[in-house]
Amino acid sequence: GLAGAGLAVASCGVFDARDPISTVGRVDFRDPLRIPPLAESVVRDGARVFELVTQAGRTRIVDAGVADTWGVNGALLGPTLRARRGERVLVHVRNDLPETTTLHWHGMHLPAAADGGPHQAVEPGATWSPSWTIDQPAATLWYHPHPHGQTERHVYRGLGGLFIVDDDEESALALPRDYGVDDIPVIVQDKTFDDSGRLVETDRVDNGMLGDTILVNGTAAPVFEASATRTRLRLLNASTARSYAFGIDDDRPLELIATDGGLLPAPVPTRRVLLTPGERAEVILHLEPGESVVLRSYPQELGLSASRARTTGATDELDVMLVRAVADPRRSPAPPRVLAAAPDLHTHRVAATRSFELRSDRINGESMDMGRIDEVVTVDTTEIWEVRNAHGQPHNFHVHDVRFQVLSIGGEPPPPELSGWKDTIYLPPDVDIRLALRFTDHTDPAVPYMYHCHLLWHEDKGMMGQFVVVDEGQSATAGGHGHG
Ligand code: C2O
Ligand code: CU
Repeated sequence: GLAGAGLAVASCGVFDARDPISTVGRVDFRDPLRIPPLAESVVRDGARVFELVTQAGRTRIVDAGVADTWGVNGALLGPTLRARRGERVLVHVRNDLPETTTLHWHGMHLPAAADGGPHQAVEPGATWSPSWTIDQPAATLWYHPHPHGQTERHVYRGLGGLFIVDDDEESALALPRDYGVDDIPVIVQDKTFDDSGRLVETDRVDNGMLGDTILVNGTAAPVFEASATRTRLRLLNASTARSYAFGIDDDRPLELIATDGGLLPAPVPTRRVLLTPGERAEVILHLEPGESVVLRSYPQELGLSASRARTTGATDELDVMLVRAVADPRRSPAPPRVLAAAPDLHTHRVAATRSFELRSDRINGESMDMGRIDEVVTVDTTEIWEVRNAHGQPHNFHVHDVRFQVLSIGGEPPPPELSGWKDTIYLPPDVDIRLALRFTDHTDPAVPYMYHCHLLWHEDKGMMGQFVVVDEGQSATAGGHGHG
């Protein structure tokens, strides 16, 4: 078997190891880590053009048999898109699936019509061709479907991939950047398989589906052979509901160099990296020749009751991936001590402060309505958003289009790992989180961006709202109201 039932939660006395949800544990690592290919592109009429096709396929993920899966340009997951700051991109997204979907560029600053949220539906057989200019620092972004009410299922079936943004500042730093060699996508997902190796979609707890098998880039029990002494892991939590606190089995520190929106001001040595669904982190793992270590997720205190905590899966100790250095690896330089400018939105004049309370599948008492604009923001202003999880359940908060700066968590300044740019943040219950956001893309007043909980079952059930970014005094055209 792939899952070591009963071995979970080995080191944490707080939670009951016999809980039936804690079925994930030790893994017998043996499959070479699959590396998503880089997406091909051509430069035509001043734009870098990508061709993507969402399609159904069949994939043998576990030994028991073959699963029906969905992918982009393949049967499971999709290629890694890559473009540079300042470049114009054009992506043709053709939907060969039997149902309507969308592709959303998570973390991308771009016009709402190109965003790929629920309003940019791509019907079966249709092609959607968004285009935008990359205008943000180097970062690990990702893409995933976002059809209203169906996002969890479409992501679970396998649609998604990385979108790496490069820029000159990042390229000038002595960091590992040889894709697939010492710069590795680590797309972590949990899925459940039946006895025939098919995906099971029905096993849902409060927060959605917790799978009993952990996959990295669609590989179960993955082994990565490191050919350099330092490997940059681009960690993405692409699970629908499960949270992870990544660490190394011998407790050596990882150097955290980037979070959702790009490089941190300086590397932060850390033993645990908490990622809730949708969040990313880039870490540098240092190995001596011939060493092998296990990337694992460790039980994490999330400020939840023990029973609620179990429904996040972050209380499970589970194996993610084996990393083994070859006997004679290339020697990588130590990462630089200074990486990027720190966010400075706290120095801006604040044009408006808004509050968002998440409770019972609603935000500010409202359930998502595609015909209602919840917030109207003025272009070229900086705002403070106060977000609160007023609910015993775990939630996080993601905002489209912008990167935000965390100003405070429970009245305290953010810890170093949350001092860089973010677009998704964990919300412990009853803790006020203040975010600063700058809105610079003027949008069609009828085409909104989303903000929502990124536990996808919650999002699907309506824990999502819509905002537009318009000229001063202009109002939204889809009706609705603001809380400003
Ligand atoms: Cu990653 Cu609105 O999504
Ligand atoms: Cu939620």
